[in-house]
This record gives sequence, structure tokens and C-alpha cells, in this order.
Amino acid sequence: MCGIVGVTGNPNAVEILLNGLEQLEYRGYDSAGIYVNDQKGDDYLVKEKGRIADLRAEVSADVHGSTGIGHTRWATHGVPSKENAHPHVSNDKRFYLVHNGVIGNFTELKETYLQDVTLVSETDTEVIVQLVAKFAREGLSTKEAFKKVLGLVDESSSYAFLLLDREDPDTLYVAKNKSPLLIGVGDGFNVVCSDALAMLKETHDFIELVDGEIVILKPTSITIEDPAGQVVDRKPFHVDTDPAQAQKGAYPFYMLKEIDEQPGVMRNLIKKYIAEDGSIKIDADLLKAMADSDRIYIVAAGTSYHAGLVGKELFEKLIQVPTEVHVASEFAYNPPLLSAKPFFIFLSQSGETADSRQVLTQVNQAGYPSLTITNVMNSTLSREATYTLLLYAGPEIAVASTKAYTGQIALEAILAKALGVYKQIETIKDFDVAAELTKAANGMQELVDEKGKIEKIAADMLKDTRNAFYIGRTMDYAIVQEAALKLKEVSYIQTEGFASGELKHGTIALIQENTPVVAIITDKKTANHTRSNAQEVKARGANVLYIVSRDLATPTDQIVLPEITPLLSALVAIVPTQLLAYYASIQRGYDVDKPRNLAKSVTVE
Ligand code: F6R
Repeated sequence: MCGIVGVTGNPNAVEILLNGLEQLEYRGYDSAGIYVNDQKGDDYLVKEKGRIADLRAEVSADVHGSTGIGHTRWATHGVPSKENAHPHVSNDKRFYLVHNGVIGNFTELKETYLQDVTLVSETDTEVIVQLVAKFAREGLSTKEAFKKVLGLVDESSSYAFLLLDREDPDTLYVAKNKSPLLIGVGDGFNVVCSDALAMLKETHDFIELVDGEIVILKPTSITIEDPAGQVVDRKPFHVDTDPAQAQKGAYPFYMLKEIDEQPGVMRNLIKKYIAEDGSIKIDADLLKAMADSDRIYIVAAGTSYHAGLVGKELFEKLIQVPTEVHVASEFAYNPPLLSAKPFFIFLSQSGETADSRQVLTQVNQAGYPSLTITNVMNSTLSREATYTLLLYAGPEIAVASTKAYTGQIALEAILAKALGVYKQIETIKDFDVAAELTKAANGMQELVDEKGKIEKIAADMLKDTRNAFYIGRTMDYAIVQEAALKLKEVSYIQTEGFASGELKHGTIALIQENTPVVAIITDKKTANHTRSNAQEVKARGANVLYIVSRDLATPTDQIVLPEITPLLSALVAIVPTQLLAYYASIQRGYDVDKPRNLAKSVTVE
């Protein structure tokens, strides 16, 4: 979603801001802008609808400065347009502001305080900058005016703000609530960003911010104040990520690169979490908290929710721990009746998903223990949960999640093994998680090496279709839900992932001549049933593709999956479906890394 960058005290500010915005492009946006000043009275505001390349084209050679702010906007209030793009400026041209998030009560604020002010945009953000200017005109200092406005914003709101006062041109005023924001520590300058990736060229040392704090950022000082005005001393943390990891290299698209990286993600998780002697390197306190609970509640959204469906199978089948999986946005407003001692697991690639965070806040208020499994160190869900386990998958840039999904499943398997050992469950000895994940890595490699075959299947089956179905039962039902989401989000083919036994109860009416139906069969118990269901749709004209485990395959099945324990079949079965989605999108002429209307990190509810 929206991205924020800022810098103070660097003569290269324009390039730092533009480069930072380019690094955030993957998150999804529809307009962008920068504001810079040179401390000598010259300042520049450049905004453009469309891509950063369009913004760059508007930035003329004389635009220069050492302090500035920049933004990529994903429209919420008001259409994508130059007027609605950030930075927003007060009518007196003194204050400039960029904002991520949503101000719930902006209409009331406008009506109460800004009757006499003409607004030029439709955004909630402009109301905030005009309010700061109004309170400053009434005699408050910039910090006081900013704090006063923060106090007027209601509970439902989320924000990351970066405010600049032209009369104090090298100072940035920073505040956040529910939206991610980091301070980057430079040498003689400082930066701000909503995602560390945006500033890795400038620094690897970042300071996290806590909701409600405000920061006064100057070229050589960072002052963090808590809501009571007390100065907070917080040390930076180091981000190891090599900026090159966030580049496409020779790949045409990030999604393909990230699909290909999955065998490496498996091997890296083994290295990080499993010692030579097979013991698991997971904090004993976390295992104790899980062992003390009577039920696991997995809460997540989208692809991460689908990884949770597989996690349920792992926790229940391997170590007999009752596990429920919930869609975060539903749980938040309609929680189930909880067990006496619940333990919560939040799965989130980004660690910033607002829907999941909403639930975590409730969980924390109730005092329940929680774990976040995420790819992003120091992300909000990671900071706010009791425990964190990281995926170490390297940055996932394509909007459609691939390696984070398989990484989450692999880490759930490692966790289930560790908990089984901790609880001394006899049968867990038979589950050699390192050996299974090694098999998964090798199997994934075999599948990604078969790209040409899958590209051809996509061209034959999916290039011109309007709709498609994935079908499967039990574990395969969990897998087809993710496979269907992947296809629909990047190719715009209307796709459903169905429990194949449910087809006859209504959905089979949609099957016509040539409707693509992909049957995933990795579960021995239900293999014949799914085959029968596939035959039923074939008899009604469907074009059926079988993706089947080697031990269950017949000679005519088109894609045969390498050997792996059935509980981890998702790790290999998902790979051809990711590639089908990728090729279908490319063949239909879309930008597979940036599907329409979607954002990488969904920081609004
Ligand atoms: C789809 C996808 C989304 C995310 C969902 C939750 O490819 O990536 O469905 O899984 O928006 O995001 P995270 O995992 O960051 O919490």
C-alpha cells in the first residue's frame, strides 16, 4: 500500500527519495510525489499520477535540496490524481505532509475546525496538514500543533506521518499509529521510511517507533518522545539484507525469481532452525507457552491464511494439538468461543497486515500468549506478539506471495516437531523434519526445472479462458484454495478452489465445454474420490489437468509430483500452480508483479 520516505541533511535528497520510492513500488500505488528544500529558501513540490518513472520525468534538473519527503499513494479517499497525490501542503505553503493510513474522523475534523479553509484535494491527509497550519497560525509551535492534531485523530484511525515546516527546513516531524515507520540512521544525515528496503542504499541501521511517540529528526540528531513528552532512548537494530537481494537480476519478473528461490528458502530454514544433531533451535519459553495451552488459534489473511490451513493439519496430525484457523478480518469482529487456554499464531509475510494486527491487539488486551511467524524482522506483528519466528526468506517483492507461503508451512512443520519433542510425544520421532524439508527442496527444484512444460500447459488451458477451477479433498482442499487465489490475483481469471466433493452440490452447473479444471491429488485416502469428481466434470466437457503425487499417479497424469510426506505435499504441489499463475498472467499480457488493485502490505482494514 502507500509508501513513505524522508531524508534530512543529505545534498542528494532528490535521488534518495526517488530511489526509495522505486524500492517501494512493489507495494502497489497509483500516484507519487516528493517535496524537497535546500535550506536557502528554494523548495520544490513535484507530484504525478501513475508510475515513479512518470514522476522522475517531471523532476527537472534544477530540483534540488537536502531535506525532503516522498510518498507513493494507493488511493483510499479520492481518486488517483495529481491533486490527491502526496505530499499535501497547507494553504499558507508552510507545512508539507505525507501520510500512510486512514483518518477515520477526517470529515468531522474538517467540519469542526476548517469551515473557513478551502481544501484542494479529496483526501483525509490534507485535513491534517491544514489543521497543523491553523493551530500554528493560532500561536502554537510546530511540535505543539502537530501533537494537538494527533490528539484530535480518533481511535479508529491509522497513520504514519512525516511533516515538514518550511520555516525550520531541516527538521522532520514524525509520528505513527498502527502503520509501520522506521528511522534510518545515516552518517551526518538521517532518513525515514515505511519499509527498510527503501533505504538500504543509505543505511542498514534502523530505529523502530512505537505507536503514540513523536520524533524530531534533524541531520545529526534523533529525538524520540513518548506521549507524555519524555525522551526515549532506543538503540538501532541492524538489517542484514543485501540490497541486491531485492533486485530482479536476470529475471524478467520478481514472481519468477521468488518461485525459483523456494528450494533455497527450505534449505535456509533448516540451517537456521535445525542443529546438526537434529535438535530444533526454538526458544524453550515459546514451546512451554504452547505446551501449556489447550488449543492453537491460527489467525491470518489471504495466502498466509492458506498456509495456516496446512499448519492445522501439521499440529493436529503430528502432535494432536487441536488447532483452529481463522480469517483475521472475520475473527476481529466475530471471534469464536475460545478454549480455556488459547495460544495464538499470527502468520504474515509482511508482519503489517491491519486485519491481523486488530486481532493481536485484542489478544494482548486479553493477556493471551502469541507467536508471529513473519518474513520481516521488527515488523509490527512481530514486535507486538509475545514471540516471533522469522522466515529468513529474503525480501518478497512480487505482490503475489510464493516463497513466504512455502516458508510459513516449512516453519510450521519445524515448530510442530519442536513442540512434539518438548511434549515428549512418542510418534514425533518418526517425523524427521530436516530430511523432509530437504526432500521438499529437491522436489521443488525438479518442478521449477520443468518450467517449459508448465508454460505450455498454461498457454493451452488458461490463455483465453474466463474462469477456472481447482479441486481437491482434505489436504488437497487446503492447497487448491491457495492455487486458486494465485491464479485469480495475477491472471484475473475467475478461479475457485473447491472441495471436490462439493462440486455436485451446485458448482458443477458452471462446467461447460473446455472449462479448465485442475485436480490436485496428494492424499491417498481421497485420491479415487477426487479422480471420480474430475471424471464427472470431464464428462461435461471440462479440460482437466491432473497434478498428482508420484505414488498415486497414472501414466496419463500431466504433472507428477516428487516424493514427499503427505503432510508436506503442499510444498511441492503448490509450485506448478504458482508457475501456471505466472505464465497465465504473462501470456494474457499483464504485469505479474503488480496485479491491479492489489498491494503487498495491506495496512488498512
Ligand atoms: C496473495 C497475498 C495476500 C497476503 C495477505 C496477507 O498472494 O500475498 O493474500 O497473503 O494480504 O498478507 P500478509 O501475509 O503480509 O499478512
